[in-house]
Amino acid sequence: MVKPDGVQRGLIGEVISRIEKRGLKIVALKMNVISEDTAKEHYAEHAAKPFFSGLVEFITSGPSVSMVVEGKDAIRVMRAINGATNPVDAAPGTIRGDFALDVGRNVVHASDSPDAAAREIAIHFKDSEIGKYSRIDEVCLY
Ligand code: TYD
Ligand code: MG
Repeated sequence: MVKPDGVQRGLIGEVISRIEKRGLKIVALKMNVISEDTAKEHYAEHAAKPFFSGLVEFITSGPSVSMVVEGKDAIRVMRAINGATNPVDAAPGTIRGDFALDVGRNVVHASDSPDAAAREIAIHFKDSEIGKYSRIDEVCLY
């Protein structure tokens, strides 16, 4: 997900480009303003944290871009592309390491496990919104 700060800073293309160039496949994509209920569901694991209300307020503050991304080790690779949660700790070359400084404005989100991905995809997408195609450079070396 490109969070509202990423959208407002004109980083949608930058994020998508990094995902595509790495070889991952975007199979669903939408821009919308996430509702408060959806935000609370998305971040349910953080409900008791002190930053929860600010996080919900921020993520619902403007349009964000949500994607479903497929590919070899897609979850691990997407987390690596995004970089550490706190951008101050994120390595240069990662999205957060290149474009952010504030943990509360860290540009991108990615699911952190297969269970989380399944849960989050179901929150943001209908099955019929998820496409199926082959990338021309797709090879299976797993
Ligand atoms: P988390 O799931 O720990 O990070 P990630 O996005 O890397 O999976 O936290 C979710 C978001 O909550 C995080 O991207 C930014 C926000 N957050 C804060 O605002 N303050 C904090 O101290 C933490 C840990 C997260
Ligand atoms: Mg997380």
